[in-house]
Amino acid sequence: MRLLILGGTQFLGRAIAAHAYAAGHDVTCAARGMAGAAAEGARFIRVDRDDPDGLAPLAGEPFDAVVDVSRHPGQVRRAIAALKHRAAHWTFVSTVTVYADNRTPGQRADTAPLRAPTAPEVEHCTEETYGAAKVACEQAIGENAFICRAGLIAGPEDPTGRFTYWPVRLARGGEVLVPGTPDDAMQLIDVRDLARWIVHAAQSRLTGTFDAIGPSFTRGEFLAQCGAGVGASCTFIWAGRAFLESRDIRRWSGPRSLPLWLPLPEFAGFATRDTSPAREAGLTVRPLSETARDTLAWARAGRAAVTGLTVDEESAALRAWHASR
Ligand SMILES: NC(=O)c1ccc[n+]([C@@H]2O[C@H](COP(=O)([O-])OP(=O)(O)OC[C@H]3O[C@@H](n4cnc5c(N)ncnc54)[C@H](OP(=O)(O)O)[C@@H]3O)[C@@H](O)[C@H]2O)c1
Repeated sequence: MRLLILGGTQFLGRAIAAHAYAAGHDVTCAARGMAGAAAEGARFIRVDRDDPDGLAPLAGEPFDAVVDVSRHPGQVRRAIAALKHRAAHWTFVSTVTVYADNRTPGQRADTAPLRAPTAPEVEHCTEETYGAAKVACEQAIGENAFICRAGLIAGPEDPTGRFTYWPVRLARGGEVLVPGTPDDAMQLIDVRDLARWIVHAAQSRLTGTFDAIGPSFTRGEFLAQCGAGVGASCTFIWAGRAFLESRDIRRWSGPRSLPLWLPLPEFAGFATRDTSPAREAGLTVRPLSETARDTLAWARAGRAAVTGLTVDEESAALRAWHASR
């Protein structure tokens, strides 16, 4: 295939480019050149998608398949207008943040209600409008495309640092502050498994809307598998919501967070999505221990972002937890 990736210079886009090139495809990545470099073997074309005529450098290029990772409705609309009629297959990487209901467990992509899209005149997505903007992007693409709603993406080159926190922290060993309970649900996908499925979808001309995420597992299993992957020896100190909130320890991602923690029951549906349609359509996932091992190796090689509690913040929280017993 001649595969065009709109993006392709960081994390998921780079992994798609790397996998497609390794599988023998002709890969072009189109971006501004700010986020990073295209994967080895891929051709890079400089474009600015915020410029109304920004895709002009791709004019006249024939592509068999296009993958778009954008979150900005204006960029997506311009790409559809300029390129969709010229490509046999179109993939749009969306997100499970498009869903309106995070509370109900076991939902499926074909029936779960969506958020309202951003207004038609909205060009750009912000942190607050991310889910609504992705709905608007999906609607701009219309039928006859592969809409791939990714859940939490983990693995080497993750710029968010949130999954990376856990292999790095567990590898340090000792007492580890962990959120919630061992039975809380979690769900994620290794970036390389997602990349492989996206290339497979382009090759096989898969269309339709899917949740792209691995099976649901418990936080206890998550810690056990991550620990096994990095050879850790840890004692887990389980801290409940009341304790974490009283210490201003935050949810999900970013400074002062325990990454990947979401309070229940508000998010009981977020990590229990039914992904059997994706599996039936060819998505396969590697063991989490492998994701953890490879993420740690990448982090140790330098330049990895890690977000979450600092060593001092975690130590202070552990002291407070013991004092409260
Ligand atoms: N990370 C997660 O856990 C998660 C979860 C669910 C869904 N997702 C979705 O998964 C995808 C992740 O994609 P990704 O890892 O490749 O990262 P990304 O942050 O979506 O990458 C953006 C890409 O677009 C390019 N770009 C940005 N602005 C541009 C512009 N004005 N003109 C041309 N190119 C531009 C960037 O390169 P330059 O800056 O160099 O231009 C970069 O290559 C996204 O669709 C995201 O919404 C992620």
